Amino acid sequence: MITHRMYVDVLVLGSGLAGLSAAISAADEGLDVLVVSKESELKECNTFYAQGGIVFSGEGDSPDLLARDIEQAGAGVCFSDAVRLVAEEGPSLVKRYLIDDVGVEFDVSREGFDFTREGAHSIRRILHVHDETGRAIELSFLRRVTDHQRISLAAGYTAIDLITNSHNSSNPEELYRPTRVMGAYLLDSSGNVLIVFAAAVVLATGGVGNLFLNTSNPPGATGDGVAMAYRAGVPIINAHYIQFHPTVLFHRDLKRLLITEAFRGEGARLLNHSGEYFMERYSPDKKDLAPRDEVSRAIYAEMEAEGSDFVFLDARNLDVDIKDRFSNIYAKCLEVGLDITKDPIPVVPAAHYFCGGVKTDLSGATIIPGLYAVGECACNGVHGANRLASVSLLEALVFGIRAGKDIASRAKKPSKLLMSEIRDWIYPAKEEFFDPVLIESDLKYLRVLMWNYVGIVRTRKRLERAMSDIHYLKQRIEQFYKSAEVRKDIVELRNAVLVAEIITRTAYANPSSIGCHYIKTD
Ligand code: SIN
Repeated sequence: MITHRMYVDVLVLGSGLAGLSAAISAADEGLDVLVVSKESELKECNTFYAQGGIVFSGEGDSPDLLARDIEQAGAGVCFSDAVRLVAEEGPSLVKRYLIDDVGVEFDVSREGFDFTREGAHSIRRILHVHDETGRAIELSFLRRVTDHQRISLAAGYTAIDLITNSHNSSNPEELYRPTRVMGAYLLDSSGNVLIVFAAAVVLATGGVGNLFLNTSNPPGATGDGVAMAYRAGVPIINAHYIQFHPTVLFHRDLKRLLITEAFRGEGARLLNHSGEYFMERYSPDKKDLAPRDEVSRAIYAEMEAEGSDFVFLDARNLDVDIKDRFSNIYAKCLEVGLDITKDPIPVVPAAHYFCGGVKTDLSGATIIPGLYAVGECACNGVHGANRLASVSLLEALVFGIRAGKDIASRAKKPSKLLMSEIRDWIYPAKEEFFDPVLIESDLKYLRVLMWNYVGIVRTRKRLERAMSDIHYLKQRIEQFYKSAEVRKDIVELRNAVLVAEIITRTAYANPSSIGCHYIKTD
């Protein structure tokens, strides 16, 4: 239970793998940790929906080979120190935490682990649990943190903003002192705004997929951590690198269902409406297993040429048993009348992963003392301009663990005096009620404009249009944010429009196409 004003050593915002890893490692070092999620269930996060798997170590694998694959997919803009860390430390942390500690039961074959393959990997090295790897990892980790004596969990609390001495103190002198994070304002489900003070705050709020009309992400992916860090003064980098996953189900009644790349790893092929396996034309060597940005653009070009809203993924002749290997996708598609063992699957590319984010160092620390960012909301340089498949969970684990350890080595509790000088939340004098339909339609409008103008193929003109529409929307949203009763949907919308602005501005400022940022000349 969170009280009106309370202190905890570490406040973790977000309950996916990155946040939970940070929580475990800080708690194992003797710190008291509170993990909060804005959702009503802690498991509702991007990790839960990850299908493909997590990179481990395949036959003949080495940190050098993995690092090379990550850097090649990243289109030459990865930070090699960060890549090396993930490649060297990642597999042993998977073994220690996921396999030995929390006991995730990855699929095995007669030879050992049943490694799968995804685009741009040179070998099979990906562990999976059928097509619900994230679900298995998330639930196992949640069980582990629930049992941990030093970790408390709270669902249904929306972080509104970070508290810093220089922004939120009633003592004017704090403005001139170095900024440090002191906690966060949290909104509970009854509309009360509480203060949680902490020696360290970890942003683990996930991605930005819900800023785009088509996405594989759950609705909560509204860029909250990125927006909060930006408002506190932390640089956001690589924001133009939005990864579009090539294959999300295109279906009127079933949205956001990822069709894992592992399908193509097992031999499924993309097909246009004329019955052509078209990837041969775009990537003669790698074909359907080319990096995601290339495959998404190829699909986009086919859709444009054929004037259609989708292409197909043909999974009818795979060597694996679809009903077992892809049991979740098979069952979900069947529910809407699609038998993927018999029919090609209609698919469309969709916003999937934010390769940019809150700038951090190799311990997940930002430029503000006490503030950390891990997982998808962070940018430490591992993914460069295009993330390699199944590296996100690995990176979340590695950086989550590192952040927890770093916090334990240097976090400092704010003084009682400093905490007492932090103002309570100021509610507007006369709160206005905003119709949820208005909030929803602003978000829908934003998602459509981001999809059309800041999507897979960008042009200068599209980006200019996006900037002016976002500017208008942002003014309006800021205005009602100030006068409205504070609510989760309003907080999310305010964050979403700010992050949309950051993405669009960064895309406009980067006129060359690299990785998943593609600009066509007008
Ligand atoms: C997938 O299963 O295709 C997604 C895996 C990932 O994004 O890393």
